[in-house]
Amino acid sequence: MNPDKHNNGGLGNSIYQIESQQYYALLREVHNKVFSFNPQRIQAEKTAERYHNGNVEGIDNLYTFINILKEQMKDKAEVKGVDYGCGNHFFIDDARKQFGWDVIGYDVDEVAIKEAKEKYPENADRYIHLDLLKNKIPLEDKSQDFVFCNAVIQHFSDTEVGFSLGDIARILKPGGILALVFKRNIDDWKGFSVKTGLKVKVLDAKEGKIKIEDEPMKKAIQELDDHKKSTLNKDTQEGLRLFHFFSIEGITDIAKQKGFDVLKNIEVGNEKLDKAILTYRSGKGIPAATIFFLRL
Ligand SMILES: C[S@@+](CC[C@H](N)C(=O)[O-])C[C@H]1O[C@@H](n2cnc3c(N)ncnc32)[C@H](O)[C@@H]1O
Repeated sequence: MNPDKHNNGGLGNSIYQIESQQYYALLREVHNKVFSFNPQRIQAEKTAERYHNGNVEGIDNLYTFINILKEQMKDKAEVKGVDYGCGNHFFIDDARKQFGWDVIGYDVDEVAIKEAKEKYPENADRYIHLDLLKNKIPLEDKSQDFVFCNAVIQHFSDTEVGFSLGDIARILKPGGILALVFKRNIDDWKGFSVKTGLKVKVLDAKEGKIKIEDEPMKKAIQELDDHKKSTLNKDTQEGLRLFHFFSIEGITDIAKQKGFDVLKNIEVGNEKLDKAILTYRSGKGIPAATIFFLRL
């Protein structure tokens, strides 16, 4: 993979980080809350068939992955885990209430953490404001059974993801699981645009540096006054949002260097998979993957 060209000295300062923080601030300015706060979306994550074109049948929604994680945890008397980049997501609250797991989460977005504390008062102290690239996870080495990381590394450069996976490896027990849900780089982004109708701008195909039209952002920008709009770069003004899409091979190589291997022999629905690599598309057609890594 390409060395990170944008990280000018410090972790947490890559172009992906800067643009993601701008994105969430912008959405909040106009829509008041970021998308993950939407109760309909929460319901869909639990019940609806949100994903399609999976490499095996039965990849429906986030709970497909949570159930795989649950299966891996089933023989443990006590389960400790982390939601890495939790935002105001329901996972921590759900896993504590439904499965009795001791889960804690961290996120750099202070407002999202404040929202989560209000939304989940019984577990308010489990949502912590922290920049995970400028700090190590404040947990002891080899203390956790799993780390769940949903839609976060799309905001990390290669260097940042290397640091992140290294720190996650540090806190996991040997035999612990990392469930990594991420946007997946593909060869033909032109094809994506034709099929979905969404604008796409590939800045660096090999690196996976890609901008995709984002409807909530487009709407947010339309509501800004002209002066504020003029402070945004041209792509952002057009509703194009920057992501870092990782390839399966690229992220697996980095994970292996940090002490992981891909988990073997899992079941999804009625199908068996030799390697715990699930590929599929989101509702909008964005290619995605979930890999379960085993801490060696
Ligand atoms: C698409 S959201 C996903 C949030 C949550 N995991 C979910 O599934 O709803 C990406 C999250 O990554 C967080 N994030 C990005 N960079 C981070 C960093 N350096 N440290 C901690 N969190 C970060 C963002 O603040 C945001 O909440």
